This record gives sequence, C-alpha cells and structure tokens, in this order.
Amino acid sequence: MEEKEISQAVIGRLPRYFRYLGELKDEGVERISSQELSELMKVTASQIRQDFNNFGGFGQQGYGYNVEYLYQEIGRILGLDRTHRFIIIGAGNLGQALGGYLNFERRGFIFSGMFDKNPDLVGKEVRGIRVQPMEEMEQFIRDNDVDIAVLTIPKTSAVEVAERLVHIGIRAIWNFAHVDLNVPEGIQVESVHLSDSLMKLSYNINRYLEENEQQCEKK
Ligand code: NAI
Repeated sequence: MEEKEISQAVIGRLPRYFRYLGELKDEGVERISSQELSELMKVTASQIRQDFNNFGGFGQQGYGYNVEYLYQEIGRILGLDRTHRFIIIGAGNLGQALGGYLNFERRGFIFSGMFDKNPDLVGKEVRGIRVQPMEEMEQFIRDNDVDIAVLTIPKTSAVEVAERLVHIGIRAIWNFAHVDLNVPEGIQVESVHLSDSLMKLSYNINRYLEENEQQCEKK
C-alpha cells in the first residue's frame, strides 16, 4: 500500500486504534463497523473513516472492517512488526520503573541495557539487566544494534548525553528530561512530559468547576 505524508495528529491517534483493536481481537471479534468502533472509542465515525482513508481505507467491505487485518496493518504502519532495542540512561526512580515495565516487549521494544553515572548504581540489576557505567555506553550501542535511547536523567546533563548519542548514531531518543533536544534531521525525538498531561487535567477540573458555579448562580 502506498503511503502519503500523514499528519502527526493522525499518527498520534493510531496507537489508540491499535490498542482498542488489540482488545477486540483478544475478545474474538472478527469484524467491526466504523459506527461501532466510534461508539466504543468515543470518536466520530467520520473521524475514523477520515483517519483510515489516509492509508487507503483498510478495505472496509460490506459490514465493517476485518479486526485482525486492521490491527496488523496499523501495527505495521507504527513499525511494530519489527523489534527495536532500547537502552535506558539514568537508573534512578523513573529509569528503573520503565525498565521494570514488562509490556514494552509485547510491542517489540526490547530492553537491552541500562547506564548511570553513579558508581553506587553500577552493577545493580533491573529485570536482569545490569546497570553499566556511562563510559561503556558507546561500545554497547555499537555492539548491540540499539535503536532507541531513553533519557531519564536531569535536564542539566540531557543535552550533553544526547550529543554523545547523536555522535554514535542512535536512531531515536525517548526523552523524559525536561529540556528540548535539538538533534540533526533523521534522528527522531519523542519527548514525554507527564506534568503536561496533569496540567491538562487541572484545566479540565477548573473548567468543570467554573461551569457548575455559573449554572448555580443562574438558578
Ligand atoms: P532520580 O534522581 O531518581 O534519577 C536520575 C538518575 O540519573 C540518577 O540515578 C543519576 O545518577 C542519573 N544521572 C544524572 N546525570 C547523569 C548523567 N550525566 N549520565 C548518566 N546518568 C546520570 O530521578 P528520577 O525521578 O528518576 O527522574 C529522572 C529525571 O526525569 C528527572 O530529571 C526528572 O525531572 C525527570 N522526570 C520526568 C518526567 C516526565 O514526565 N518527563 C517524570 C518524572 C521525572
């Protein structure tokens, strides 16, 4: 299937489709209409059709989509049909929590190595992976075909470590440090800031409270 330039907004919605379709598949559902998927996911059926049309529509015939096919195709578009090896840099609270999370492997992300500058953490094991000193990072990436580096270090050191990763030819950085990383084109950076999500939640709480207050005043 030929793929045209797809907006980041559409790509951002694909993991959620993938998740729902995975659950439907596990429940033994074979076909689903855009209307049913819309009700399940609380998005409009036209949004679903528009999103899927970016990829040729996924051959909706007669009654709905073939769940298994759609799941496989979206997985393929997300690159989940191949494995990615990742290392974690920063074996503190967050690094250890991510390293300990089993489900990444289910999606083809293989936890391969962990690094920290703190000698007290070197040698400690997280899910069978030994924390190594930072001096060994480059050699490890070279020897183990590592695609992704996860940065769970403070922002003060993230830029410097990112430069080392770029230099060694890492393909992607999953950045949890609170700093924007400027990397050359061709290196993918996905930054995650959990507090952004929390601030969105705070906005919605406030908006709900304000609306309720206004309604009470009207009564
Ligand atoms: P932590 O202090 O438990 O762990 C940080 C680890 O990074 C330590 O083990 C430290 O030795 C190591 N480290 C520091 N500089 C390093 C360097 N140059 N090279 C290698 N290792 C280095 O902190 P925690 O709670 O794990 O958080 C890690 C970072 O992630 C913090 O900077 C925090 O602000 C950020 N964070 C981001 C979140 C997000 O949603 N993006 C959520 C939580 C934390």
